[in-house]
Amino acid sequence: MLLCIGPVLDKGVVDAATAALTAGRFVDGRATAGWYARTIKENLQADPQDDRLAALRRTLADTILRNELFQMAVRPRRLSPLSLSRYEPGMHYGAHVDDAIMGELRADVSFTLFLSDPAGYAGGELMIDGPGGTQEFKLPAGSLVAYPSTTLHHVAEVTSGVRYAAVGWAQSLVRDAARRELLFELDTARRTLFRQSGKTGAFDLVTKSFSNLLRMWAEP
Ligand code: NI
Repeated sequence: MLLCIGPVLDKGVVDAATAALTAGRFVDGRATAGWYARTIKENLQADPQDDRLAALRRTLADTILRNELFQMAVRPRRLSPLSLSRYEPGMHYGAHVDDAIMGELRADVSFTLFLSDPAGYAGGELMIDGPGGTQEFKLPAGSLVAYPSTTLHHVAEVTSGVRYAAVGWAQSLVRDAARRELLFELDTARRTLFRQSGKTGAFDLVTKSFSNLLRMWAEP
């Protein structure tokens, strides 16, 4: 399941992020790419020594983890440290699948948090391949798309302006994407039932099914 969530950040946080990113130090993104990704990755990433950008990475991760829709769709057990990327004209990231294991973390869900106003740059779409074709994402600053880490995806070349984004990975309590989707829909349905009619017998039964499926599938 691909899910766009927005906005995850309010305008004040986007403005503070923009100020930190504009003043921040960036280094060649190939430094953190695996052996084959080095041949197709052409972007810049936050210098790990830049304390202000390190603080921004933590703030963004905390904000994403608190987001209710993200919790419902991803069921995060933990996140990898976020990566902040900068694409200048001519930069892109070719087709790749994200690493399965990152240190102690199994990457189940990948996400991109867009940090630049889409009107400020051309190109730079996140393109995700799926059975129905390739889907393009270029979201407002502060919005996020989450997608299974199992997919092939790429970032189209930026042809003008500058594109900033935060990318990250979650290990989910529920490894299987189809099960995560089923839980997301049941959780959404029970919340809708509650809003419409309160704590009815139908709400109780859907909540029971949701909770017991989560109990059956969760790997804490
Ligand atoms: Ni990727």
